[in-house]
Amino acid sequence: MATAPYTRPMLPPDTFRGTTILVTGGGTGLGRAMGQYLLSLGANLAVCGRRREVVEQAAAEMAEASGGQTLALPCDVREPEQVEAMLAAVRERFGRLDALVNNAAGNFVCPTERLSYNAFNAVVDIVLKGTYNCTLAVGKQWIEEKTPGTVLNISTTYAWTGSGYVVPSAVSKAGALVMVRSLASEWGKYGIRINAIAPGSFPTEGAWSRLRPEELGDDDKLDRIPLHRYGEHQELANLAAYLLSDFSAYITGACITIDGGAWLRGAGMFNELERVSSEQWDAVQAAVKKRREG
Ligand code: HXC
Ligand code: NAP
Repeated sequence: MATAPYTRPMLPPDTFRGTTILVTGGGTGLGRAMGQYLLSLGANLAVCGRRREVVEQAAAEMAEASGGQTLALPCDVREPEQVEAMLAAVRERFGRLDALVNNAAGNFVCPTERLSYNAFNAVVDIVLKGTYNCTLAVGKQWIEEKTPGTVLNISTTYAWTGSGYVVPSAVSKAGALVMVRSLASEWGKYGIRINAIAPGSFPTEGAWSRLRPEELGDDDKLDRIPLHRYGEHQELANLAAYLLSDFSAYITGACITIDGGAWLRGAGMFNELERVSSEQWDAVQAAVKKRREG
């Protein structure tokens, strides 16, 4: 069978030649998938995460697979001093930074009333504070140097719907999305574009282990996705690369949803009627017709 187009690379291979991109949380999951693709399109890639061995191993493997340049940066994005030091290391190695992907996140499912203050802070500090720490640090640099730049936030659809059981993540993703929309306006004059992607379900070890613990049972969400499949990492990487590239030069302040229609399925009041069979509809229509006629 032919490979589905969404599992294939999309952009010309020299799209990012001579540019440097930093992906936070780029040692695992979706961050790693995006980084691997950006490298294959010619970018120099800097990846950060808190666990030194994870980012170092990922950076080495990705460089070997692509023949490109990578830099592993152990960094906790919650700490502004560590973020500043990370940017200095990128500058020292590659000269400058052209784009930032705010991908690092923390999350877990838990009834909100069971959360300690520390648990709430643990997620907000990574997802909201970490995102603005990195964005502020690169933005200041670009504005001072009078050079353009691009920021991409990895958000989620509950940034605007909200969601129970992941409230610290939801409030953080919502705040970060408002930052995207605010800065698109404020920093456009400096040539800085800032966008977001809201992925639906893309299987990763990090997300699945924390959001679908096996003790909760096998709650298959495929029925709630109109396109009836999970996302492929490459199709997310394709979208991320497009939004980071000059092919999207007129797009800023946007949040592009890539979820197979899942959030709308949950929102539409009558979408649950999908469970009604064709025979049941025959019976319903016959009964309604009979009532109308007499
Ligand atoms: C309740 C929990 C908890 C849980 C931790 N805590 N896990 N409370 N339920 N499952 C509490 C702890 O008891 C502690 O509070 C506080 O949170 C901090 O915990 P630490 O383990 O000390 O924090 P830290 O080492 O900073 O780890 C942060 C973390 C962890 C978020 C808790 O899971 C992590 O490192 N995550 C990084 C990767 C990740 O989460 N990836 C998934 C992203 S998926 P006390 O009061 O006891 O001190 C994603 C998908 C979004 O974002 C959209 C999906 C559709
Ligand atoms: P993941 O593999 O767990 O990725 C999270 C990454 O963030 C890890 O590499 C982690 O590394 C890093 N990180 C966490 N805290 C950090 C900190 N304080 N400083 C620096 N790095 C930190 O999960 P994922 O599924 O790929 O998620 C990636 C992004 O996609 C997240 O923004 C998530 O919200 C978003 N998303 C995912 C899905 C999905 O279905 N997978 C859906 C919607 C949105 P360390 O632990 O080593 O720091």
